[in-house]
Amino acid sequence: MKVPFVDLLPQYLNLKDEIDTELMNIISKTSFIGGTAVKEFENLLADLENRDCAVGLKSGTSALILALKSLDLPEESEVITTTLTAVPTVEAIVQAGLKPVLCDVDIDTAQISLESVKNSINSNTKVILPVHLYGIPAPIKELHEICIEKGLTLIEDVAQAQGAFIDGQRVGTFGLISCYSFFPSKCLGGFGDSGAITTDDQDLSEKIRAYANHGRTEKYVHSTVGLNDRIDSIQAAVLKTKLPLLKLWNEMRNSVAKKYLEGLKNTPGLILPSFTSGSTPAWHLFVIRTSKRDSMSKFLNDAGIGTGLHYPIPVHLHPAYEFLSYPKGSFPVAENYGDDVLSLPIYPYMEESKVDYVLEKVNEFSYMDISS
Ligand SMILES: Cc1ncc(COP(=O)(O)O)c(C=O)c1O
Repeated sequence: MKVPFVDLLPQYLNLKDEIDTELMNIISKTSFIGGTAVKEFENLLADLENRDCAVGLKSGTSALILALKSLDLPEESEVITTTLTAVPTVEAIVQAGLKPVLCDVDIDTAQISLESVKNSINSNTKVILPVHLYGIPAPIKELHEICIEKGLTLIEDVAQAQGAFIDGQRVGTFGLISCYSFFPSKCLGGFGDSGAITTDDQDLSEKIRAYANHGRTEKYVHSTVGLNDRIDSIQAAVLKTKLPLLKLWNEMRNSVAKKYLEGLKNTPGLILPSFTSGSTPAWHLFVIRTSKRDSMSKFLNDAGIGTGLHYPIPVHLHPAYEFLSYPKGSFPVAENYGDDVLSLPIYPYMEESKVDYVLEKVNEFSYMDISS
């Protein structure tokens, strides 16, 4: 049996008529930039995310950069984030002209360590930028309290966790600004790159909208030097059609995750994903840990099962980020994660037989390994 790491086709096939109609509509109107699709998508997104404003953008990376830029912070202001994340989180801080201050992660949840955050705060700290990694909520309530107490801004990187909840509250509703990616494999994915910010601050949202549109505040008037970071209409049309199904798709991810958690709970040599009891993860990724990562990965791949690594190298150990001066050993927990993480296939409409096959093969490898 073949089990791909992700299969996006069923999402499309389930909405084929609606998506095709929307796309033909854009094409026949030749309305490729802006227009009603973008407006409608932004309105739906703001409603879904329980926010007053949403601005569609070119990517999750541009959402992070523009969110940070909109704060008009002095150069070299420090932004605290996790080293165990997709590189764009940290890249965005640098591209916004600010200084990333990296933190280690909690050994159980892989989320940014509160202790590490507290130890990193100094007079230059202006922003805390947690990532809800793998779709599991970061300790966002505690971070929100720290921000209030210390007068810092909270920006959430929700790229992997759209639709996750913590204690009944949707992630992405805690920070001043929240940043989303609609990279095709994300919980809500487009047909290419796109992203968005949400916020309840109308002024900030307008500032970000203008910045992403060459600094234009009204027709023919450019008030700031901006750039072109707009969402395009084709992405907006696809996303507005898919968005009503996000809840269902996250439930489908959740039922795969539940089967994995149950089917692997006694498997020797594995550490399973862990989250606080009040959390409902969005399960963008299902990441297990094993000291036999490379051999298990090969075994699964040979059996026709796709796997991923998120992330084999924490950001501080990439050559591009050497200048941040965090040598190997700076963040031991995140570095250990890098050595033993393995992501199993998870996606909406994943057939039960495929989930069972993954379980069978992970168990086969693990029991074979202890008996040898
Ligand atoms: C946590 C996180 N932040 C930011 C991004 C950047 O999003 P995009 O690829 O849409 O620029 C991603 C996507 O890879 C991500 O996973």
